[in-house]
Amino acid sequence: MSNAVRHRVFATCHIGDKALEILRQHHCLVEVYDKIEAPPKSLLLEKIKSGIDGLITTLRDQMDYEVFAAGRGTLKVVAQIAVGFDNIDRAAANEFKVPFTNTADVLTEATAEFAFFVLGAMARKIYSSERLVRTGQWGSWQWHPYYPFLGDEVTGKTVSVIGMGRIGKAFIKKCIGFDMSILCYDPVFEDQGFAQLTQELLDLRHKIGFTAEPKTIRYVGLEEALSSGDFISLHVPLTRPHESDKPTYHLINDRTIALMKPNAFIVNTSRGPVVDEAALYRALKSGRIKGAALDVFDTEPLPDDSPLRDPALEPVLRISHHFASGTYETRLSTDPRRGMAGRCVQGLLDVLEKNFGGDYAKMPYVVNKEAFR
Ligand code: GLV
Repeated sequence: MSNAVRHRVFATCHIGDKALEILRQHHCLVEVYDKIEAPPKSLLLEKIKSGIDGLITTLRDQMDYEVFAAGRGTLKVVAQIAVGFDNIDRAAANEFKVPFTNTADVLTEATAEFAFFVLGAMARKIYSSERLVRTGQWGSWQWHPYYPFLGDEVTGKTVSVIGMGRIGKAFIKKCIGFDMSILCYDPVFEDQGFAQLTQELLDLRHKIGFTAEPKTIRYVGLEEALSSGDFISLHVPLTRPHESDKPTYHLINDRTIALMKPNAFIVNTSRGPVVDEAALYRALKSGRIKGAALDVFDTEPLPDDSPLRDPALEPVLRISHHFASGTYETRLSTDPRRGMAGRCVQGLLDVLEKNFGGDYAKMPYVVNKEAFR
C-alpha cells in the first residue's frame, strides 16, 4: 500500500466517477466490482477477508452474519447506497461492532414523485395508449368519445397513504397539487401536527379557489384507509412478523384487498413483500380492483415465470425495475445533501476519518447507532 493510502475500500457497484474521485482524494484505495450484476458472495467474503476497511454495498448484497464475521477486527464500515437496508443483518453488524450507513432523505422526493407519476400513468392508461399507437391499432377511427378505453381522473380523488414517513409525506405534497383528499395510516406513529398544518394548507387552497370543494387530510385506521381510498399508495418499510408487533409483510393480502373499493388502484414503491403477489394477481385477474403499479417485487429481478407477467394483466398492471429513486440528481450527486452517491461517500468517510470525534452514535448517516451508545 502506498504511503498516501490510508483506507482500502471495496465497492460492490460503481457509484459514479466523481464520487470515487472524492474517495481517492481522501486517500482511499478504491476497488470497484466492474460488472453491473452484484458480485458473488464468495468474492465479497474474499475481499473482506483480505482486510478492507470499508465496503460500499447496495440492496442486492446479502450482508449476513457470515459476511460480518469475515470482517471481524478489520472491517470498519459498511456504506449502503440505498435508504433501505433489509439486506443487512443489523444484529450481526452490532455484534461485530461495524457501523453501517444508508442514504435516507436524499431519495425522498425522487421516490415520491415516481410513485405519483406511476399512479397517474396507470389511472390515465398512458402505457395502453402508447402501445395502441405503436402496434398500429389506432386504425380506422380518428377520435371517439369513449372507444377503445377511458382512463380514471386523478384530480379531486381520495388517496390513502400507507406509511407516513419521509416518503409518504413527500408523496402527499404531490397529491395536494392534484386537489386530492388524503387518508393517512401509519402502523407505528401518527404525526398529528403534520396533518393539522396540512389541513390548514388545504383550507387555504379552498379559500382562494384552487379547489371547488373543501379537501381533508386525516389519520384513519388501516381498514378505513383501504376501504375509502380511490388510490392506495404504500410507503412503509418492510417489517416481518418476528420484527414488529405490526408487521408490514403481506399487509396487502386477500383479506385487505377485499376491503378495497372495486375501482381502487394500488401503488407500491416500498418493498415487494409488503404485497402478497398471489393475492394481488387474483384481484387483478378477476377485476376485483381496477389496477396496480409495482416498482418492487417479492423477488427481484421479477422472475420470468412470475404470474405478474401474465399478458392478461398488461392493461391493469404497470411494472418497473425498482427504479423510483433512479434520477441523475438523486443517484449520482456527490453533494451529501442532495445525492445518494454523496451521502454514501460521506457516511463512509465519517467513520474512516473518525469525524464527530470518532463517535459513531453522533454520525448522521450511521444507522445502527444503538450498538455504540
Ligand atoms: C430503494 O429502494 C432504497 O432503499 O434506496
